[in-house]
Amino acid sequence: MKIAHLDLGDFPLFLAPMEDVSDPPFRVICRENGADMVFTEFISTEGLIRGAEKSEKKLDIFPGERPVGIQIFGHNLNAMIEATKIVEKANPDVIDINYGCPVKKVVNKGAGAAFLKDPVRMEKFTREVVRATRLPVTVKTRIGWDENNINIVEVALRMQDAGAQAIFIHGRTRSQMYGGKADWDEIAKVKHHPGMEIPVVANGDIDTPEKAALIRDKYGMDGAMIGRGAIGSPWVFKRMRHYLETGEILPEPSLEERIELLRKYLKMSVEWKGERLAVFEARRQYGPFFKGLPGIKKYRMQLVTADNAAQIHLILDEILEEYKDFVFN
Ligand SMILES: Cc1cc2nc3c(=O)[nH]c(=O)nc-3n(C[C@H](O)[C@H](O)[C@H](O)COP(=O)(O)O)c2cc1C
Repeated sequence: MKIAHLDLGDFPLFLAPMEDVSDPPFRVICRENGADMVFTEFISTEGLIRGAEKSEKKLDIFPGERPVGIQIFGHNLNAMIEATKIVEKANPDVIDINYGCPVKKVVNKGAGAAFLKDPVRMEKFTREVVRATRLPVTVKTRIGWDENNINIVEVALRMQDAGAQAIFIHGRTRSQMYGGKADWDEIAKVKHHPGMEIPVVANGDIDTPEKAALIRDKYGMDGAMIGRGAIGSPWVFKRMRHYLETGEILPEPSLEERIELLRKYLKMSVEWKGERLAVFEARRQYGPFFKGLPGIKKYRMQLVTADNAAQIHLILDEILEEYKDFVFN
């Protein structure tokens, strides 16, 4: 699959944009563990044009994480165009527009998934962003506003007309938020529409090697985007790739490998965002990292209440000692 000139090979696997998760340290870890391309969390166009420090920091790209897409969201066309120029200076491989965020705070202003209610407006915004930059532009959206308004085929064709170079589709409506199941059939309808030429990537509930293979083989999609399935298990990409290529399931990584990864992630995080935030945001990773270890709850409690990195490293030493003979399967 290609995004403009960017050749991502057969059936690429993407790390999804996730707020407070898809930061440079996590993106590097995912790239090293088999993700073919990664995306930043969404960045406010208003924040960027105001020069807000928090938004600008989100433009950081580490060596080792390319190809990377920077995702923006907003509701004001001029701000979107100005922000596109700022993002271009950070030189990502792709600029992605968020048309899928379901949260009230975003939607009520007319950003994120609100665009699904007005595909004409969505087309206009996309066309203007495409015009404002030399970089390829992609879009990420949902299948519709609610179950009575599933309009993703129309939306996708409009995005293509506007110059988007690929479309990432989360198979839920805005009303579903994150509940229910992602509807891969609706995404496949876009892929198999005779007018569709740009790549169509499926997203939503793809969290095992077998599901990635289904998305490729049964649904015929161009690639898969993985969000929650990568939190606390960044090796999911490697396992998917191996299964896609060989039909065999790789053994789960050992405890030692997991802890080594976690230490590396934490170290990069502390350096990039400071110890307090790094320690806080690492908390959501622990559950899946140690899933299956009997009696791990005690340690997990310690990990999520630890307030500095040294303490976390000590707890990891203890886990390694207590479970050294444990084999994940
Ligand atoms: C914690 C979290 C933060 C998210 N932040 C973003 C975001 O910034 N931009 C975006 O397009 N989607 C965001 N999403 C949605 C994901 O990119 C993805 O579409 C959704 O989680 C479904 O995929 P999954 O089932 O593989 O997780 C977020 C999801 C989660 C769980």
